[in-house]
Amino acid sequence: MLMKRYKRVFLIVLDSLGAGELPDAAQFGDRGAHTLRSLSRSEKLYIPNLRRLGIGNIEGLGFLGTNDAPEGAVCKLRERSNGKDSTIGHWEMAGVISPKPLPTFPEGFPKEILEEFSRQTGRGVLCNRPYSGTQVIADYGEEHLRTGSLIVYTSADSVFQIAAHEDVVPPETLYAYCRAARRILTGEYGVGRVIARPFTGEPGHFTRTPRRHDFSIEARDETMLDAIRNAELDVIAVGKINDLFAGRGITRSYPTSGNAEGMELTAGLVNADFEGLCYVNLVDFDMLYGHRQDVDGYAAALTKFDKWLGRFLPKLREDDLLLLTADHGCDPSDNSTDHTREYIPYIACGRDVLPLNLGVRGTFADIAATVTEALGVTFPCEGSSMLGEMTDVRAHLRACAIRAMAQSHSPYSGFQVGAALLCGSGRIFTGCNIENAAYSPTICAERTAFVKALSEGEREFRMIAIAGGREGAIETACPPCGVCRQVMSEFCPPEFEILSVTPQGSESHTLSELLPLSFSL
Ligand code: THU
Repeated sequence: MLMKRYKRVFLIVLDSLGAGELPDAAQFGDRGAHTLRSLSRSEKLYIPNLRRLGIGNIEGLGFLGTNDAPEGAVCKLRERSNGKDSTIGHWEMAGVISPKPLPTFPEGFPKEILEEFSRQTGRGVLCNRPYSGTQVIADYGEEHLRTGSLIVYTSADSVFQIAAHEDVVPPETLYAYCRAARRILTGEYGVGRVIARPFTGEPGHFTRTPRRHDFSIEARDETMLDAIRNAELDVIAVGKINDLFAGRGITRSYPTSGNAEGMELTAGLVNADFEGLCYVNLVDFDMLYGHRQDVDGYAAALTKFDKWLGRFLPKLREDDLLLLTADHGCDPSDNSTDHTREYIPYIACGRDVLPLNLGVRGTFADIAATVTEALGVTFPCEGSSMLGEMTDVRAHLRACAIRAMAQSHSPYSGFQVGAALLCGSGRIFTGCNIENAAYSPTICAERTAFVKALSEGEREFRMIAIAGGREGAIETACPPCGVCRQVMSEFCPPEFEILSVTPQGSESHTLSELLPLSFSL
């Protein structure tokens, strides 16, 4: 087992709170989608606590108000999976990437599937099309009463829904039919959820009962939940988390009726003694407001969450880590009621968490890597943990310098250099080398960073990290050239720290070590 850094992690998913379109949004019909920007246009949005933590510092979210002294670490993450639904989004943040979307059936389910379903249930099938849940019982309820055939329908989501009158099919029997369907619907027919939709009443007045039940498909691979549970820690699910993971890897589950109950339960759990993960999904944002294109409703719900957050933060204990994020977008002011392909925001706070911007990350799975590392659980996955960067300023500067290498203009040397300069104000300025066809006008990465910082008024400097290599690969340390050392000596004290990034970490030197006798007038 790894070293445990936190006793408890609270991972709260604000369902559908997207942070702007992903580069491939157009392929999903979502060009320009931006859930948070749509909310920012509502007068109902008031989120002082999220702003205090630094939500407005996330790249592209400056319209929410940037914060010079944030209390949390932030970033936004890209979805690698091919989808934009809750299941695939939660799986990816739990460490499992889905190259294929869950299948949808806009033309209904194939004959052979329904034949097998009828063979196992001994009942016929009605409808078999995408349909509204209330309309489908109004239109097919009578025929169902007469024939005993089951009403099977779907939606734009990956679902197989079975509606039946409680007098014709008792709910327990309906659940057994759902389990049969679940066993049939695998492989290319592996829908995200089979849903029991019991209803009651007389023709013309049918109503759905609360005995709806979801039977989800299991994630392909082991998720962080399995790993945390196997390490004998608690995995507490609040809201629909248990459904999304088909109950796997969960030690305790609290289903909820919506955000209010989810927040209340979470506030209760923060006072409870457990060790491990408390994984919460707040579904109203998506279900009640995103899909219904209710911008003000969505904004008001986020305002309520923010108010709750203000009361929740002081209850966190010394060894708690709080992570806030989302699972996909559902822009309430775009032209569809559907989910939207967006980045998700990430806000972290807790002991040792530095007020940093962790940039733009390549996969939601970075969350799984972070959560498991925080809890000291070994979990190999495709994500990279942000914990080191979140809690160690040198690790963060190192990562910033490496990221800055990507901007290098170095067609002549082929050598990319990135630098990240930490100022007295806490701001970090990055730089890259910028070469020129005439060679001598080339500027080094370190001086780019200094020039940017100086021209923004910074005059106090704490530390710089420098990373260099060919094609983005770091092979050895890249200490600054003599000219850069001389420039540093103009503005920095002798103890100014210079980190030369190596493949594993970094080597630290002071300026006086690297330039004992600078030139001065
Ligand atoms: N370079 C830097 O960016 N920083 C240094 O301290 C040393 C050199 C760049 C300049 C040039 O584009 C490339 O590395 C090869 O010399």
